[in-house]
Amino acid sequence: MDASPSASSAARVQIALGERSYPIVIGAGLFDAPDSYAGLPRAASALIVTNTTLAPLYAGRLQQALAGRYGAVHTVVLPDGEAYKTWETLNLVFDALLSHGCDRKTVLFALGGGVVGDITGFAAASYMRGVPFVQVPTTLLAQVDSSVGGKTGINHPLGKNMVGAFYQPQLVVCDLGVLKTLPPRELGAGLAEVIKYGPIADAAFLDWIEAHLDALRAGDPAALAHAVRRSCEIKAEVVGQDEREGGLRAILNFGHTFGHAIEAGLGYGAWLHGEGVGCGMVMAARLSARLGLLDEPAVARIARLVERAGLPTVAPVLDAADNAGRYLALMRLDKKAEAGEIKFVLIDGIGKAVVRGAPDALVREVIDASCA
Ligand code: NAD
Ligand code: GLY
Repeated sequence: MDASPSASSAARVQIALGERSYPIVIGAGLFDAPDSYAGLPRAASALIVTNTTLAPLYAGRLQQALAGRYGAVHTVVLPDGEAYKTWETLNLVFDALLSHGCDRKTVLFALGGGVVGDITGFAAASYMRGVPFVQVPTTLLAQVDSSVGGKTGINHPLGKNMVGAFYQPQLVVCDLGVLKTLPPRELGAGLAEVIKYGPIADAAFLDWIEAHLDALRAGDPAALAHAVRRSCEIKAEVVGQDEREGGLRAILNFGHTFGHAIEAGLGYGAWLHGEGVGCGMVMAARLSARLGLLDEPAVARIARLVERAGLPTVAPVLDAADNAGRYLALMRLDKKAEAGEIKFVLIDGIGKAVVRGAPDALVREVIDASCA
């Protein structure tokens, strides 16, 4: 797809996946500029999928930007929150598509954070066996991670993101301007996914994050632009090599094995996804150290950065009677687990990740040392 004229001054990162390739454009003032969407195929209709928080803020402006391009632009407003990343909410998107007579060329626009993006992508993958969709991520987390790479889906009460599909968008429009309305706690959650890229892939980026964390938390536009761009570059590199997580892509789940257990164990929405990931990275770093892969100063460095991002570093007790057992049971449901063996993303020196199992006894020690 061609870059749009207004996006030509924006930073651009390409996801290289052959015929499923697409650009991520990053800059301010993009989401409500018609030119941002100029490279998309024309269609009779489009459906904006958003939520109750974002609809009053941004849906009208996106609708106007798309009005000249599609005969009809419809909007469906979903309930807001991780607790609504469900079949029932997904069905609201299908209800809207069918009631508006949307066809195979209808383009879906995901206007929101990771929850809206994951649901919309799954709806696009399934409706009439696949319709085009565009990601317009409005959280830092979605801009640096969830809108990119084609993982879509919903939660099951027994496990996070357990039902879904790999399905790539046609375009990702990261408008840094919309981050101005993002609550600080949500910005912190996004920083967890930014921090993740340093230990797994880029030691120099970790240095940069340490130096610019205060600017990032203050919403400094230049710092955010660099963080989004570098994160997307690293993710593009990984996804380009392993779209369907046959191996390498699993490194993007650093902190997620422990983090997903926290999210599912507490009930979705009690901790933000990024908070689970932040704490989970500290736990995974500790496990890396116990396996002799990482030294203690590096563990302390990761923990300090997570703390500076305003994220929790002490994990919750999920079961007073057998806390470690509860964590282990939840982690055995992780998608990386094979034949009941949990696979952890571990850090083998800052900048390099490995995916492997670990003895339950060591994992229990880490859980005991991390929970309060
Ligand atoms: P979210 O989608 O719940 O958004 C966070 C909150 O911020 C919501 O209340 C939302 O309405 C609000 N919000 C969003 N943008 C706003 C803005 N600009 N101004 C004001 N409020 C705004 O959470 P998230 O952190 O964006 O995403 C988390 C989800 O992403 C999880 O479900 C996680 O599993 C998923 N995820 C998916 C991938 C992937 O590869 N597909 C990767 C990472 C995370
Ligand atoms: N967020 C992990 C992945 O996209 O693979």
